[in-house]
Amino acid sequence: MSRLERPRRLRTTSSMRALVREVSLDPSSLMLPLFVREGLDHPRPIVGLPGVVQHSLSSLESAVDEARSVGVGSVMLFGVPETRDAEGSEAWNPDGILSRAIAVARRRVGDDLVVAADLCLDEFTSHGHCGVLDEHGVVDNDRTLDSYARMSIVLADAGAHLLGTSGMMDGQVRAVREALDAAGRVDVAIIAYTAKFASSFYGPFRAAVESPLTGDRATYQQDFANVRESMREARLDVGEGADIIMVKPGLAYLDVLSAISAAVDVPTASYIVSGETAMVEAAAATGALDRDRAILEMVTAVRRAGATVVCTYWAVEVARRLARSGT
Ligand code: PBG
Repeated sequence: MSRLERPRRLRTTSSMRALVREVSLDPSSLMLPLFVREGLDHPRPIVGLPGVVQHSLSSLESAVDEARSVGVGSVMLFGVPETRDAEGSEAWNPDGILSRAIAVARRRVGDDLVVAADLCLDEFTSHGHCGVLDEHGVVDNDRTLDSYARMSIVLADAGAHLLGTSGMMDGQVRAVREALDAAGRVDVAIIAYTAKFASSFYGPFRAAVESPLTGDRATYQQDFANVRESMREARLDVGEGADIIMVKPGLAYLDVLSAISAAVDVPTASYIVSGETAMVEAAAATGALDRDRAILEMVTAVRRAGATVVCTYWAVEVARRLARSGT
């Protein structure tokens, strides 16, 4: 029987498969989230996220050294303060934990990797919301922008190369861009959490930052039923000066990532979030799946869907594995 088309021909050997592989992984595209907790002497494990810790300032040094040594492209720093207030004022304290963490990381790595920092208030507010509240307890968008603007200068002065506007406030990219430019920090880049969904998959992260949040973020993060709305967010963020556009979470939102990646002319990023990480770890712990293969598959899948940058808690081990396999 004649079959002109036999796709299996290109799957016969490992080298044949490698020859026609469309997407490859490179450690320099990986971004590693790191948590730094004020007042710690030693790193502290995070419940629900095996292998991920809250760092002390000194264990942060080894973590960024390790990331650099395996060629990871970037670290994304999250600060966990000792004290919180309604305004989140530790966020723009130049001696606060996030600023100090940025300075420590920059001192270690210089420009060898990209030092990024989360620009949001949720780690710093006593109520756990990503902004300040009005008299009805609703997040006040425009007053929050003033805090983001103020925070952006402090984080830039501490040495951040890249700021992650993750609060989902309207106009946040523009507010931060204008503040940075007015302060002469035109080179500090913005990675906008453009399509950040009100997701259940952030569970372990909330433990990692000791979030006091009750309720949800549905009045500012996106409804997970919508993709058209993500396109609007992408149009706005690019127009406001975003340098990189992020979609988050990763795996459940590949359609959104794919649509945005096709529509914009800036690099896109995907964040494989804490709950997605925890699911794989939990399934692997029972023997239900092959952990290492599942991780490579997930990271490759978000690249295939269009992400240039992949933010993942597995960044160091993926980078290490890539080095070993010689790809
Ligand atoms: C907010 C922020 C969150 C995450 C990153 N930045 C949590 C939230 O919106 O509640 C979640 C990341 C993860 O789950 O890994 N600053």
